[in-house]
Amino acid sequence: MKIGIDKIGFATAQYMLDMNDLAHSRGAEPEKFSKGLLLQALSIAPITEDIITLGASAAEKMLTQDDKENIDMIIVATESGVDQSKAAAVYIHHLLGIQPFARSIEMKEACYSATAALDYAKLHIGKNPDSKVLVIASDIAKYGIGTPGESTQGAGSIAMLLTKDPAILVLQDQSLALTRDIMDFWRPNYSTTPFVNGMYSTKQYLDMLKTSWDEYQKRFNKSLADFAAFCFHIPFPKLALKGFNKILDKSLPEAIKEKLKDNFEQSILYSQQIGNIYTGSLFLGLLSLLENSTKLQGGDQIAMFSYGSGAVAEIFTGTLAEGFQQQLSKGQDRMQELRQRIPLSVEDYERIFFENALLDENGSASFAEYKTGIFALREIFEHQRIYQKVTVNEK
Ligand code: HMG
Repeated sequence: MKIGIDKIGFATAQYMLDMNDLAHSRGAEPEKFSKGLLLQALSIAPITEDIITLGASAAEKMLTQDDKENIDMIIVATESGVDQSKAAAVYIHHLLGIQPFARSIEMKEACYSATAALDYAKLHIGKNPDSKVLVIASDIAKYGIGTPGESTQGAGSIAMLLTKDPAILVLQDQSLALTRDIMDFWRPNYSTTPFVNGMYSTKQYLDMLKTSWDEYQKRFNKSLADFAAFCFHIPFPKLALKGFNKILDKSLPEAIKEKLKDNFEQSILYSQQIGNIYTGSLFLGLLSLLENSTKLQGGDQIAMFSYGSGAVAEIFTGTLAEGFQQQLSKGQDRMQELRQRIPLSVEDYERIFFENALLDENGSASFAEYKTGIFALREIFEHQRIYQKVTVNEK
């Protein structure tokens, strides 16, 4: 049975920070961010937007009523969850109005877990061929004001509907995972921002890429020439480019190398405007590739490198379905949507991105009005987060 991605939805925050403004304010040369990291802007989420509102918005944009009646599992992959106990998927199940007989869970391993979620979804559909599974990768990447990681923040969510006979990408069975117990990036329960060994993390990313790709090729007798494109986890686009150059086989014919290079460039377009969205970053790269490449066709194989600090990496692959383009937006429309985000001054970014809920003695808080996507966090009432659909007039 063919199982894979039938639909992809995307949501990001409605505010953005221009990297040139950040550079000026931090006394850095703008080229450090534009050329050194290949970043142009970051999405900035206000307090009324979180992984639940972003995840629900990404899914709502793509689901039909029929999908909602047939989804029987929702998996939210995240490392910026809002509760240690209750899964974000339970809130999202309610906000989307999905039929009640569903399993709703949250999965974690830094930026990697959405890849494990896809595999779980695939196994579930293998046993229950008529079921549809909603996988949501949703995160807000926050390192802190003036930290080295500040320039690689971001916010966004990718929703994927997994079904049999999918319209976009058939997931293949061959995959290879790699685990190393390392301290490159981690966030203990008592901290709102991660601890990061930045340079070490980039070295590990590249080394785990090389190690897993070498082993994948050996085990499955594959080479880069078998693939039309290679998508990477994109903490910032320059690191993905370094990864691409590391695996690019110089002995390949020029035409194949050019196609892979061009497809790589299409895969980083959205991340350059949004920043790191952790669990969703690899799939934002896939979406950017599929919506912008003119060089892909049904039957093409795509390789993917998933990386989550700590660390777990995986190489997995998919085959494009015939007519996959019909299920996707046009790249220029997506870029237009991104241009409509509200630009923030650095001062406003510092205030809005790092605002904390001021709880009263009953554990309640209300917030100023901010622009959000389809759903918003309205208030915290006695320690409970209250979400609502945003009405047309408010938008
Ligand atoms: P930094 O201080 O910006 O580093 O920190 P830098 O001084 O090395 O500069 C960055 C690049 O800009 C360098 O390029 C400079 O040469 C260049 P490179 O040498 O590496 O090619 N540069 C310039 N280029 C042109 N003109 C100039 C100029 N000045 C400098 N004038 C760092 C960078 C990534 C360490 C930092 O942003 C950070 O700590 N980020 C967070 C950690 C991170 O993203 N790690 C990536 C791997 S780990 C991962 O992917 C997992 C993750 O997503 C989390 C998860 O799994 O949950 C993060």
